[in-house]
This record gives sequence, structure tokens and C-alpha cells, in this order.
Amino acid sequence: MRTQVGIVGAGPAGLLLSHLLHLQGIESAIFEDRSREAIEETVRAGVLEQGTVDMLNETGVGDRMRREGTVHHGIALRFRGGDHRIAMTELTGKSIMLYAQHEVIKDLVKARLHAGGPILFQVSDVAVHGLETDRPSICFTKDGRRQEAVCDFIAGCDGFHGVCRPSIPAGALTEYARVYPFGWLGILAQVHRLSEELIYTLHERGFALVSTRSPDLQRLYFQCDPEDDLALWPDERIWAEFRLRLASTENWQLHEGPITQKSIIGMRSFVVEPMRHGRLFLAGDAAHIVPPTGAKGLNLAVADVRVLSRAIGAYYAVGRTDLLDQYSEVCLRRVWMAQRFSWRMTSMLHRFPHDDAFHLRLQLAELDETTTSRAAATSLAENYVGLPFGDASPSPFYERR
Ligand code: FAD
Ligand code: DHB
Repeated sequence: MRTQVGIVGAGPAGLLLSHLLHLQGIESAIFEDRSREAIEETVRAGVLEQGTVDMLNETGVGDRMRREGTVHHGIALRFRGGDHRIAMTELTGKSIMLYAQHEVIKDLVKARLHAGGPILFQVSDVAVHGLETDRPSICFTKDGRRQEAVCDFIAGCDGFHGVCRPSIPAGALTEYARVYPFGWLGILAQVHRLSEELIYTLHERGFALVSTRSPDLQRLYFQCDPEDDLALWPDERIWAEFRLRLASTENWQLHEGPITQKSIIGMRSFVVEPMRHGRLFLAGDAAHIVPPTGAKGLNLAVADVRVLSRAIGAYYAVGRTDLLDQYSEVCLRRVWMAQRFSWRMTSMLHRFPHDDAFHLRLQLAELDETTTSRAAATSLAENYVGLPFGDASPSPFYERR
């Protein structure tokens, strides 16, 4: 088969890229190794930056998000048992949207399939070839048959464990990484909304987070050992841990209820430079990972494909290659700012294994500064709602219409 842009991975990066290319009249095909049901059910992120929300709205895939998502204007930082609000909208003029990643996935899959965009689910043994030529290709097995898609460009949107990044010759990339000595145990619980706004908590026993999915389904996380075994965490033990860490000196109650999903995720910071090799462009988690404390991963994936779609659009419209050449540099500047923010939120709110009482007091002092200095609160809020996209490339025709 032949397509202009071959996209490996139907996560937020791959699906949105395909959609943005389609709006510019550019054809693409997506190659995904899981089933449609699997990608539409995997529970992951929940916080969309204002810029992400605007993009989904502007490109016609925001209807359900506007109906079912919830706009939040602030977050609470809970420490010493008390809540301290960061008034995001007051400080920045922007807000965030709580709308689950798998709902975004459903909306994008529907839009792509409706427009006739091919998404090949359950392909296996994907391999990319000819990256340094002007006819790179994607080989894959579908329904037992080995096939090849010849492309002009390949987008590696296949996440951290994908095949695209490892296909780049050794020595062409530099990796920057940090692994954290803790993970998050996350649950979905059938309880009524616990708070109007997200609560990020530092407790002597470690971090905890109260988030939400709908009035009757809540998402909560706490810091745990990344090697911990879920079998050792029956529901009662999980609630007991939340009771301790979320203990509040204010008029706040933790309601407990049935836990419908639980998982443990590890945490790392990772960036690869550059995000391009020949005709292969890496986007989203394939190129960088952040610890989830700043809620940046999905939003960074969206920012990458915005830059990439514009660069590819300018190539097909007027033959420009300069924007493709700038892709990596433009993305990485913003990626590193999000890395710094995610690392800062993580360091400020988690207990590290060998931390002493001195370190805990430094963390509390940082939280005191963040919640009492307008400048410090504004800095946190600006990063949390999302920094400007920072790409100077021309807006594609679907925004000019
Ligand atoms: P992915 O979503 O990983 O998609 C990659 C796709 O490629 C997958 O569908 C995969 O099946 C497919 N694939 C992989 N290998 C192959 C192959 N060999 N062949 C074909 N297909 C392949 N981010 C936020 O912005 N806000 C949050 O609130 C937030 N919270 C999070 C909470 C948790 C618990 C977790 C785990 C993550 C969170 N994130 C958050 C991060 C966010 O989920 C990711 O950054 C985001 O999914 C990245 O999107 P992506 O499209 O780059 O990669
Ligand atoms: C959620 C996830 C995050 O990583 C975060 O920082 C806030 C909320 C969530 O899944 O709702």
C-alpha cells in the first residue's frame, strides 16, 4: 500500500496527527498493535490543558468533551492537613478540563473512521525501514499476511515501548533519563465527587491525589513502591492508606466505595534528542516521558503533533522543508520546560526513600512559598494550565477558514 504519512500507534499523538493531516488534505494510515476495544478502554490521563481543549474544539472533535468534561479553575495543595488553593484562572486567565484520555481516544477514532481514514488495528511485528531515504516504509503483519506501506514520512507515535525509537541507528540519538524510586497506585472508585477541584497532597507517608472522572466515579492515586504487588493491596488497605494521607484539618470527608479498577505505574523522566531521524519523526511518549504529577504527558503529545502537522502541511502545500528541519528544536524547548515542571511537582510532593526530617521541612517551605507568594503561585499555575505552544509556523488552512 501507499500513503503520504505512515503513523505507528493509535494513542493521542497518532490519532490527532492523522486528524490534523486530514484537515489539510493529507492522507495518512495508522498502524496499531492493539484492538480498538483495548485502546478505547485503557485508563490513563485525565487533565487537558486549555491549549489541548482549544485544539480539539477548533478541529471539530470537542463536542462530547464540552458536554461531558468538567472545567476546573483551580487546584488545591494539601499539606499539614490544610488546603491551599492555586486559583489558576484568576492567575492566568486559563482553565483545564477533566476528561479522560480514553474518551479523547474514542472521539478521535470515531472522527478518523467517519472520514474514511484507515486505522489498522491488531497489526503485529511492525518494522520501519528506509528512514534515510525519501521513500521510508512500514512493514507489518495483518490477518497473517506480511505487508508493506510505502510512505513519504513516518510518524513514530508508538509510545515509550514502541519500535520506532529503537529503529534509529545507535549513536544518532542522545537519551536523558531519570527513574524515580516510587510509582503511583491508581484507582477508580464508585463514590460521589470528593472535591470540586483536584487535591495534590504531601503527607509524611507520601504523596496522594484526588481527581475525578464524573460525579459518581472518582480517580485517586498515592505514591507507592514501584515494585509493589497489587495483590498485597486489597481495597480495605488502599482506603486505609488514603484515610491517613488525605487526613484533613478542615471540613472534608473521604467517602469510600467499590474500587472498579486499580493499577501501579512506575515513574520516569526521559527525553531523546533529536526527535527526528531522516524521514522518521518521533512524537509524544515515543520521544519523551514525564512523571504524571504535572499532568503533562498527553498534553505534550498534542503539542508535538500540532508542530509536526503544520510542518508536514507546509511541505505539501508549498514545498517548505525548513519547518520539518525545525520540528525537533521547536518541540524540545517546550518539552524541557514541561520536564522541569513535572520534576518540580514530583520533588515537591513525594517522599524519597532516604529523605530526612530536614528535607520534609524544605518541601513544606516550598509549598508555603508556592501558596503565599503570588509570583510563585502564578508560575505553578502558568505551567499547569499549559505554556504557550511556541511554534511560529503558519497556521494551517483549517484554522484560517
Ligand atoms: P501512547 O498513549 O502510549 O500510545 C501509543 C500507541 O502505540 C498505543 O496505542 C500502543 O498500543 C501503540 N504501539 C506501541 N507499540 C506499537 C507497535 N510496535 N506497533 C504498533 N503500535 C504500537 N498525561 C497528561 O497529560 N495528563 C494526565 O493527567 C496524565 N495522567 C496520567 C496518569 C497515568 C496513570 C498514566 C500512566 C499516564 C498519564 N499521563 C497523563 C500520560 C499520558 O497518558 C501519556 O503521555 C499519553 O498517553 C502519550 O500519548 P502517546 O500517543 O504519545 O502514546
Ligand atoms: C490525573 C492524572 C494526573 O497525572 C494528574 O496530575 C492529575 C489528574 C487523572 O488521571 O485524573
